[in-house]
Amino acid sequence: MNDLSTLTRRFFLKAAALAGAGAALDPMRALARSSTAPAAAMHKAASLPISIASANGLEATKRAVAMMRDGKDTLDAVIAGVNLVENDPEDDTVGYGGLPNEDGVVELDSCVMHGPTMRGAGVAALRNIKNPSLVAQRVMERTDHVLLVGEGALRFARAHGFREENLLTDASREKWLSWKEHLSKQDDWLPPHGEEDRDIGALFGVEGRPTGTINCLGLNDRAEISGVTTTSGLAFKIPGRVGDSPILGAGLYVDGSIGAAGSTGRGEANLLSLASFLIVERMRAGDAPTDACLQACQRIVAQTKMKRLLSEDGMPAFNVNFYALNVRGEFGGASIWSGRRFAVNEGGESRLVDSAYLFER
Ligand code: GLY
Repeated sequence: MNDLSTLTRRFFLKAAALAGAGAALDPMRALARSSTAPAAAMHKAASLPISIASANGLEATKRAVAMMRDGKDTLDAVIAGVNLVENDPEDDTVGYGGLPNEDGVVELDSCVMHGPTMRGAGVAALRNIKNPSLVAQRVMERTDHVLLVGEGALRFARAHGFREENLLTDASREKWLSWKEHLSKQDDWLPPHGEEDRDIGALFGVEGRPTGTINCLGLNDRAEISGVTTTSGLAFKIPGRVGDSPILGAGLYVDGSIGAAGSTGRGEANLLSLASFLIVERMRAGDAPTDACLQACQRIVAQTKMKRLLSEDGMPAFNVNFYALNVRGEFGGASIWSGRRFAVNEGGESRLVDSAYLFER
């Protein structure tokens, strides 16, 4: 039996135990009913507007809801929300102070999507501009294109007056240097070490290397919905690597008549499943947001066949997190692995809500 069969069998056993033999006949239904999904699937906005985001979006969702209450457009609101995180040097996964690529240069990805007009755009591998979400919005509004990358995206940003700056803070530079020094015993970069130290190997496994990001979705009281995802991407990536965050359908998808979904976590896995699009399509078919997110997680697990991405017991050695909000104000989040939360604001203070999950750590 190969790893995938083992994994699938474990999943079915768990699903059957939790959901009953009938549910186990349909893997997607069984999945939706397993673990914490039933309770989580009940999330519904107590009032509108509502904004949800990845766990680093407490302030972002608060700002987004305040703006929507003031009558601002849903996309302007969620972008203003994530700008707080892009500008925050303490969040080393987004914007200013983000962890850099392997050359020590911060390279940013973002996309936006506006439900009422079904427009969207992204920028990828953009250097030196703190707010890639605003550049993505400008691509959407002021070009006939959907995706600009690298030097072209930078030149477009310059043309629109965005200020270039070094986005590497001392803290993110130190983390990059530490990664470089621990990378290999076969090169000449050494971390601080003593006479007795032997193990100066890699700091991160596949699971541990930071991929943080912010995704933020917003719905107003006229059932208008929009979303944004923005990130500095996988820490220490090969220059030019593009993750899921700037790709519509992967890091974000919005259908103004159905709802919105976005992601954080291992972008490579999401790029191979276009899971945000999948989630919106599952919601179109009638699934609750949490169930749709869980199905995206299961799709990724089922598609992960390479052993280097599995731990010794055949389980995925990485995590991917999804967030979804429909135009009725129902919302949810799910991850492959337990222990994740997401931010919600319906006015007043934001709160963190437990995400549903496939597997318990
Ligand atoms: N999900 C963010 C990235 O992989 O770049």
